[in-house]
Amino acid sequence: MVNAASKTPALEIRNLEAWYGESHVLHGVDIVVQPGEVVTLLGRNGAGRTTTMRAIMGLTGARKGSVKINGVETIHLPTHRIAHLGVGYCPEERGIFSSLSCEENLLLPPVLKTGTQGMPLDEIYAMFPNLAERRHSQGTRLSGGEQQMLAVARILRTGAKLLLLDEISEGLAPVIVQALARMITMLRERGYTVVMVEQNFRFAAPLADRFYVMEHGRIVERFGAAELAEKMPVLTELLGV
Ligand SMILES: Nc1ncnc2c1ncn2[C@@H]1O[C@H](COP(=O)(O)OP(=O)(O)O)[C@@H](O)[C@H]1O
Ligand SMILES: [Mg+2]
Repeated sequence: MVNAASKTPALEIRNLEAWYGESHVLHGVDIVVQPGEVVTLLGRNGAGRTTTMRAIMGLTGARKGSVKINGVETIHLPTHRIAHLGVGYCPEERGIFSSLSCEENLLLPPVLKTGTQGMPLDEIYAMFPNLAERRHSQGTRLSGGEQQMLAVARILRTGAKLLLLDEISEGLAPVIVQALARMITMLRERGYTVVMVEQNFRFAAPLADRFYVMEHGRIVERFGAAELAEKMPVLTELLGV
């Protein structure tokens, strides 16, 4: 019988510590995300949210503690092995190849050996009509919003089911941010698990099932969408929202 208690989390982080060289940035982070959940990691600049994403991927200097992807311990695995467990990381710098066309960027990523297919190009284009229109445009010719959608679409091509999205709404016009919100809603309807780092609280608030707040490399608040209203005073204090 399947119930919430017996489900294997898509992501289970326990007592995660991480360093950049001598600099100790994460001090025992705990985050548990169930399959299909949309979870937002909030915090002020420098709180350690990007470092948490990088540490999940094994991209920090040292890391310690436990990071399980679908029940598999990854703390001693290299980044490419972690990715092959079905994790897609979209870093703040989007990493679009500017000399390649939109479509060439989409054809580039390797399909992960997760047993699940990457999203076919026609589905990608149905989900991102802008990218369909711009399929032959060079990377540099794409707007910031189009580049952001391309960065996410490229991850979907790999077959990743757990998506780590770092500040995807940053610096984009409100109409583009709305399109990204629709994209997150579509991803959740399709059963993807999403962990988003966000500065833009108004963007994240209506999308997330649960919220974590970081400060100084620690989780200082965790709550569900139903508690959002009562948590607003705390959030105002912690985030200035
Ligand atoms: N490459 C790095 N080397 C050393 N320190 C870093 C590096 N990247 C981030 N830091 C430090 O780690 C802390 C957390 O940063 P970060 O995870 O980027 O925060 P956030 O994404 O929440 O804004 C900050 O104090 C930042 O200065
Ligand atoms: Mg960051």
